[in-house]
Amino acid sequence: MEQVESALDYHVALAMLDWQIELGADEVLSEAPVNRYELQQSQPKQAPAGPDGKRRPPTPVAKPKVDPVADAKKLAAAAQDLAGLRAALEGFEHCELKQAARQLILSQGSVDARVMVIGEAPGRDEDREGRPFAGRTGALLDKMLAAINLSRSGDGASGAYLTTVLPWRGPTNRDASPAEVAMMKPFLERHIALQKPEVMVLMGNLPCQALLAKRGISRLRGQWAEVQVAGGPAIPALPMMNPERLMRNPNAKRDAWADLLFLRAKLDAL
Ligand code: URA
Repeated sequence: MEQVESALDYHVALAMLDWQIELGADEVLSEAPVNRYELQQSQPKQAPAGPDGKRRPPTPVAKPKVDPVADAKKLAAAAQDLAGLRAALEGFEHCELKQAARQLILSQGSVDARVMVIGEAPGRDEDREGRPFAGRTGALLDKMLAAINLSRSGDGASGAYLTTVLPWRGPTNRDASPAEVAMMKPFLERHIALQKPEVMVLMGNLPCQALLAKRGISRLRGQWAEVQVAGGPAIPALPMMNPERLMRNPNAKRDAWADLLFLRAKLDAL
């Protein structure tokens, strides 16, 4: 086979590839190359000139208005179980994040778990592995849970059911917009109603924004709040620092440890 000569050395090429993956360009979208110049030539011809010699743009066809939040509410409400919720999310086309993600990340853990841990959004590892809290962040979360006798592989009293506010990894590492959080909230609320946790952990700003309408996790962490969905019972919810942030800010681990003990005490008392 002919060797392809390149001015880049191996390590530079690898670093460039990594950078592109960080930006979200981690897939070849088409097997065959597309000649965009040819595409341009096959575009529809310009409108003919009018009697005054001027060309007018074609009259735009009015698109029916869609309300993504109303659509999300309708789809989510119809889901009777977790399989139905997954199908509803797969049929929801208003969230731009979905276009760039490899797959939908719904949850991991036993549906009977007492604790539901709600994270922010899948990252690169989650998108690859198809489960929430994967990679180093997931390993730290697993250690934190194990310290209070919980695990994502346990069920009932020892189980932690993991999910995220956004079920798709975004194209870049940008924050989710308020509109994106609002359109995914009905699915999250339905998820809570179907899983019926006794206690929830809100890991990071996004779940606090979606369920408590508050941000500022450094201030909110460690204080119990309550979340009520679809007329169900008020569920105790503990805001905590996301393990992803804990890895960048090890000083916050002491507070996280105090929060975990708080969670354990609540579970023992219920
Ligand atoms: N990974 C997740 O799945 N969720 C988070 O909130 C952070 C990392």
